[in-house]
Amino acid sequence: TEFISASELASMMDVSVNDVISTCMQLGMFVSINQRLDAESIQLIAMEYNYEVEFISAEEEIQADNLEIVDDEEDLKPRAPIVTIMGHVDHGKTSLLDYIRTTKVASGEAGGITQHIGAYNVEVQEGENKGKSVTFLDTPGHEAFTAMRARGAKVTDVVIIVISADDSVMPQTREAINHAKNANVPIVFALNKIDKPGANPDKIREDLSKENILVESWGGKYQEQEVSAKTGIGIDELLDKVLLEAELLELTANPDRKANGAVIEASLDKGRGYVSTILVEAGTLNVGDIILAGQYFGRVRAMINDVGERIKTAGPSTPVQILGLPGAPQAGDKFNVMESDREAREIANKREQIIREQSIRAKRHITLDEIGRRK
Ligand code: GTP
Ligand code: MG
Repeated sequence: TEFISASELASMMDVSVNDVISTCMQLGMFVSINQRLDAESIQLIAMEYNYEVEFISAEEEIQADNLEIVDDEEDLKPRAPIVTIMGHVDHGKTSLLDYIRTTKVASGEAGGITQHIGAYNVEVQEGENKGKSVTFLDTPGHEAFTAMRARGAKVTDVVIIVISADDSVMPQTREAINHAKNANVPIVFALNKIDKPGANPDKIREDLSKENILVESWGGKYQEQEVSAKTGIGIDELLDKVLLEAELLELTANPDRKANGAVIEASLDKGRGYVSTILVEAGTLNVGDIILAGQYFGRVRAMINDVGERIKTAGPSTPVQILGLPGAPQAGDKFNVMESDREAREIANKREQIIREQSIRAKRHITLDEIGRRK
């Protein structure tokens, strides 16, 4: 692939194009002013001027705005873990989450679940973890999970990998294991459908051992739990194990500042316009805030929680639907609350331009990092 021209490179380095061309000659390359250069040539030439070249995708460039907030240690408060359920087709991911949702939501809310927002916050109802809350993500199939990671969003603290005990470790089970391992996220295995006559959880443990995963009851380090998403057997224990993993992570966030987080999903709703499900990772999001997500920005007009209620504020680890963005950002896009319209517009415009350039010219961007010039 060819990237920029000799003259574009010259202006990025702030030298004359004639200089660049004669440097090329010294390197044995004969180029003309408007000739596009390949990666290797760009690197060679830039090196002569003491620049280090970094090739970054538009994707990365969009995320490169330095909007990250570093909190003071003393402002950090404990937050609920964010848990993603993964596993092979039909092994019971949705059933497991449905069971947890319908039985573990705070009383009074139970039965009132009308909204599907792809993310849920549940509260443990009994046992030593009573009162603790856990946020479950439903949406990220493997692709979404990978896309999110590619965008730098780390929206999962713990992964539950569901494996049907009447089946085996399957291709998507392996994929899920690899994803979680690559993301360095602890895994708890749910050996599901234990109510079925043909269930053989020991066969699953054996399957896992062949993948170099030794479960706890076999002396290994991976927690596993036999469950049934149908009868509910083992689900309290599963939640306890998830919370144990979470505790080791000492998850915290500063709730008392402008919010930031990630987009889980977004779409155009006939009646309501663009609706985005987002996860607040830190800070508190308020109705009326100016929010920037991907290349879109707008004022938060309304927020709806996972049980369909309108809310005014959302703190760390809370999933909410928001109205007010003029478009649908992509799953995994980060969001930030901005001080002013102007600031938000500036970044949104820049991102939009990057996306446009990428789609029209399919051109990758390069940045030049000066590593100390000789002269
Ligand atoms: P995909 O989203 O298609 O990948 O599937 P999934 O992993 O979400 O599985 P889902 O929850 O849809 O369950 C698949 C089938 O298994 C459904 O028919 C469920 O009723 C059934 N099932 C799930 N969990 C259990 C269980 O614990 N016991 C029994 N007997 N059936 C279950
Ligand atoms: Mg499902």
